[in-house]
Amino acid sequence: MPTLKIFVGTMYGGALDVAEQLKPLFEQAGYQVTVLEQASLADLVDDRPDLALFCVSTTGSGDFPGNIVPLVRELEEQSPGLVGLRYGVIALGDSSYVDTFCGAGRSLDALLADQGASRLGERLEVDAMETFMADDAALPWAEAWIAEQQLQEA
Ligand SMILES: Cc1cc2nc3c(=O)[nH]c(=O)nc-3n(C[C@H](O)[C@H](O)[C@H](O)COP(=O)(O)O)c2cc1C
Repeated sequence: MPTLKIFVGTMYGGALDVAEQLKPLFEQAGYQVTVLEQASLADLVDDRPDLALFCVSTTGSGDFPGNIVPLVRELEEQSPGLVGLRYGVIALGDSSYVDTFCGAGRSLDALLADQGASRLGERLEVDAMETFMADDAALPWAEAWIAEQQLQEA
């Protein structure tokens, strides 16, 4: 069974809620899904999943939520090289933070690309100013994302 790890970065639980809502959808699509709230680089490198989904909100001024900071630091410091890793990004933010909108999700996307990983599909940016329930945007995005992945496997 192919594996999918969802790496969560959250301050107030919104991004975790999205990950938990998406989990059954991916399971129905045939993936073995793990949601990680305290991930380390080993979860990405030593036990590499077939697919990785980063579900990350932004805090401060474009900053990463504390629970995903250890993973980000390890990525920056160890530059592990992630060629062959396929990933997606769901960034939660608020466009009233004009200059740093979805800053964490965008930075993480750039960091993964720098390491040679390949993003599957477009990054989803969920704006709290427009979307009250992030799941409303995330569920259709995830359906399209998984269909794209299955097309690539076929
Ligand atoms: C103190 C604080 C700082 C924030 N800073 C940003 C920011 O710089 N950029 C952004 O896009 N959103 C920012 N946000 C909005 C959150 O990212 C948004 O509300 C998100 O949905 C929270 O998700 P979470 O519940 O997973 O933490 C900030 C929110 C708070 C409370």
